[in-house]
Amino acid sequence: MTEKELIREALKGRKNAVAPYSGFAVGAALLTKSGAVYIGCNMENGAYSPSLCAERVAFGSAVAAGAREFSAIAVIGEGEDYCWPCGVCRQVMAEFCGDDFTVIAAKNEEDFVTVPLGELLPHAFRLGKKQRHFSGKN
Ligand code: THU
Repeated sequence: MTEKELIREALKGRKNAVAPYSGFAVGAALLTKSGAVYIGCNMENGAYSPSLCAERVAFGSAVAAGAREFSAIAVIGEGEDYCWPCGVCRQVMAEFCGDDFTVIAAKNEEDFVTVPLGELLPHAFRLGKKQRHFSGKN
């Protein structure tokens, strides 16, 4: 799948955004290593703090479907700037992905920047296998 195609999927996600408080719709499309795509949109909440970014919604959807290995995510907001993932979403990415995971920040299908996760979140915190007290499906 090309970057452009993944951005197109992120645009589909953005259509479903629930963003009545910020007015800022975001879409994300997460590509697995086997070629499946899971989309996400931001999902805001009237109590504010339960709100979720598009990236975490995409990860939640993928993980619930059993996916664990990811190669890239495309993110598209609105307006003139690229929409870079927030710190919380970068940490969620680091839980499932290595530093070589590709983050595509897009303004549209033609105008995008690709950056490895290791650049967005250097020295990411990751629990080592020894520190894990339970074993999920990993
Ligand atoms: N948001 C995302 O969904 N992804 C990002 O990468 C940055 C911010 C959302 C959160 C909130 O719903 C809205 O954009 C404004 O911050």
